[in-house]
Amino acid sequence: MADMNFTGPEPDLQDLLAARPQLQMHAQDGLCLEDVPLNAIADQYGTPVWVYGAGTMRARFAALRDAFAAENVPMHIHYAVKANDHLAILNLFCEQGAGADVVSIGEFRRAIKAGIAAKNIVYSGVGKAEAELEAALAAGIGQINVESAEEVEMISAIAARLGVVANIALRMNPDVDAGTHAKITTGLAENKFGIAAEDIPALYARAASLPGVQVAGIAMHIGSQILSTEPYRLAYEKGAEMVRALRAAGQNVEVLDIGGGLGIGYQDEPGLNPAAFAATVRQVTHGLGVRLMMEPGRYLAGPAGVLLGAVILQKQAGKRFVVLDAAMNDLMRPAMYEAWHGILPVDASAFHAPATPADVVGPICETADQFATNRALPDLQPGARVALLDAGAYGAVMSSAYNARPRPAAVLVDRGGFELITRRQDVDALWEGEMIPAPRRA
Ligand SMILES: Cc1ncc(COP(=O)(O)O)c(C=O)c1O
Repeated sequence: MADMNFTGPEPDLQDLLAARPQLQMHAQDGLCLEDVPLNAIADQYGTPVWVYGAGTMRARFAALRDAFAAENVPMHIHYAVKANDHLAILNLFCEQGAGADVVSIGEFRRAIKAGIAAKNIVYSGVGKAEAELEAALAAGIGQINVESAEEVEMISAIAARLGVVANIALRMNPDVDAGTHAKITTGLAENKFGIAAEDIPALYARAASLPGVQVAGIAMHIGSQILSTEPYRLAYEKGAEMVRALRAAGQNVEVLDIGGGLGIGYQDEPGLNPAAFAATVRQVTHGLGVRLMMEPGRYLAGPAGVLLGAVILQKQAGKRFVVLDAAMNDLMRPAMYEAWHGILPVDASAFHAPATPADVVGPICETADQFATNRALPDLQPGARVALLDAGAYGAVMSSAYNARPRPAAVLVDRGGFELITRRQDVDALWEGEMIPAPRRA
């Protein structure tokens, strides 16, 4: 399996902290997120606990918005709900002026519940069920990004039945290698996503002839955790070429949805620079005369979150294992993608203590339940707290209750204070909805 991780030397604890302005180490209070001590949150709500910084999310949204403003490129930002679908976070991005990108009716309903208007919601995904499409259309969804000829026919039929016209875009697969992990690349011809470029003109014409759909334009999304502007440039050039070709063929093309995928620095690789990204978008789309939309998720939410855990014990077995109360069921990315997450001790004394290699693991009965291998960390006695960094995106949303582990609480830090936004799941709630059938008689 290809490794999405940066391959340079691992950053030490000081480097990790220095690269993250949202985190501070205070001599007395220990590690803080946006100047709020993580110890205070763990004291009140226990561990493991997700902690998100509202200021960081707002700042990242503003950085992206301002980068496009500086290039004079009007951009409609649709937050990709899949990255972190908590109502409080959707509401936060809604207040910043974001729409939403959803991939299920559940995400659609979350976005609506959080205050995002249906007309500002885009529905992506390779397999939208009929009932989902019907519900989204009945609620007045703004745009559906269509991934196949079959889906165009299905949407037109549903819309005609409902007496509405569905606003759609065709998701083009630009066959570009995003240079990211094999499991999160989506823009290669061999991937299941989108419609091959050569099939777009005929499908566009077919869609334009159907009663239930109105084709607004072209959509793309080439993958996630992309760290260079080059794959974007290649993909968007193909998108712009397609817009011109369609117009030359007499089609009306108003929208270009350029997707998401902007990468962040998990190790010490620089994340994708919003200014460089915006400049690339301007260069490729300048004069194209389209309404531009984008769907970032990880970039906005990832660095704003930590998973705060505590050490259950340190085990010596040939090497040192630090066993946490957090596990792969909470933060799945290391087990699923071999993803690297920074780990910082919360106490200042531990942060400054000498570090030696340790494997950091969870208590789940799977070898894959491992957050780090040979990581330079100080001695961490039972009860010591650690923060798993950059866990704001594709963290809690991917979690499960495997090994009958209740889902952690979540806390939002904002303007110097903090508030519970998800109660820790009760153990009893784990079997809610389960039934034991009465014995069947033969
Ligand atoms: C269609 C679509 N849009 C947007 C995103 C968001 O990606 P990211 O969180 O990498 O920005 C994804 C995720 O892969 C996606 O599939």
